[in-house]
Amino acid sequence: MTKLADWFETSNDATKVLLRLGARPDVISLAGGLPAPELFPGDAVADAFAHVARDQAAVSLQYGPAEGIEPLREMIAEQMRAEGATSVTAENVIITTGSQQGLALIGQTLLNKDDRVALDEPTFLGALDAWRPCEPGYTAIDWSGNAPGFKPSDDTGAMPKFAYCLPNFRNPTGETMALEQRRALVAAAQRDDVVVIEDNPYGALRYEGVQPASLLSLADNGGEGPYDGHVIYTGTVSKTLAPALRVGWMVVPQRLVDGIIISKQGLDLCTSPLTQYAALRLIETGVEAETATRARDLYRGRRDAMLAALEKDMPAGVTWTRPEGGMFVWLTLPEGAESRDIFDRAAAAGVAIVPGDVFYAMSPSRNTIRLNFTNVPEPVIAEAVSRLAGVIADRARDAA
Ligand SMILES: Cc1ncc(COP(=O)(O)O)c(C=O)c1O
Repeated sequence: MTKLADWFETSNDATKVLLRLGARPDVISLAGGLPAPELFPGDAVADAFAHVARDQAAVSLQYGPAEGIEPLREMIAEQMRAEGATSVTAENVIITTGSQQGLALIGQTLLNKDDRVALDEPTFLGALDAWRPCEPGYTAIDWSGNAPGFKPSDDTGAMPKFAYCLPNFRNPTGETMALEQRRALVAAAQRDDVVVIEDNPYGALRYEGVQPASLLSLADNGGEGPYDGHVIYTGTVSKTLAPALRVGWMVVPQRLVDGIIISKQGLDLCTSPLTQYAALRLIETGVEAETATRARDLYRGRRDAMLAALEKDMPAGVTWTRPEGGMFVWLTLPEGAESRDIFDRAAAAGVAIVPGDVFYAMSPSRNTIRLNFTNVPEPVIAEAVSRLAGVIADRARDAA
């Protein structure tokens, strides 16, 4: 079990350096996790905001319910039922200020100091940031043996407070959890009475292959709603519409709903009703679905461009993931190579990357790199990968 303080100073430093690098016009950034700005439906967003401010001012400009506006919660519940979680009702849905806030609310509601969170490393840095104030410890989900499991604490015998998973196109590795793993994880959650967070910001960005069932649908017993299973689901419009809307949602088991709403109320009273009504309109009028379709088409080409460039240019001994969706490819350098060293050399060559060690809460792997492929045009991706490959080959020669 490792405390966050052991690594967060270094990740903070990396974030600062990355922000400075990203601002340099001569640097190609494969470091961020940003949507392509050319996809943003600016006119439709302007029309939606104008419409709800003008025609629905009484509700869109007023404070709203802490749990979110009813019609949006109804619409999300319907979407979740259509995706197989058949007992989810609007009562289970809480609208959040981005799904990041959902993660923070779960921590604020469930975690006490020294409680443990179970997860797979590497993992989403923002989740670790969200829980840092709660000072939890971390433990790996145990995938060894026939069934995954959660280890009781050596000190107290307590099970982890919850587990955190990114089943679709995990940030940072791009990997997807297979159906049998999903089934086994939900079975373990039910057996050990541990709630699992299914964080799914990238699910709609699938470029090939078949979508396995969500953890939420596997945890749903299909009975009368509201849903009261062992999975909390977090979703967002950030990757299918625009991150600036800051509209996300959580599907929360009924027994936890009141606690989360109280936390949400204490944090910001409510997510802006203006943006909630605008997001609802953008979903109802098909703008979100159309933007997601354009995103899939654009990003599929960019992913292919990155994979082709890696294949063409990377020296022997470097391996990488081949994501079916999402925004990231994860590179593993030969044993002994330091990605921090590559980071500095790549920056000098005009390419920003993220050293993989910042995505770990326990045992950082120092020879890994996260690459983003969504924010840069295909020819520029090819140029960036070629420069990075040159840097990695030079570094290997220097070390030999
Ligand atoms: C895995 C993961 N979860 C959650 C978020 C937060 O998204 P948002 O708060 O914009 O909904 C992100 C953002 O990139 C992410 O990568």
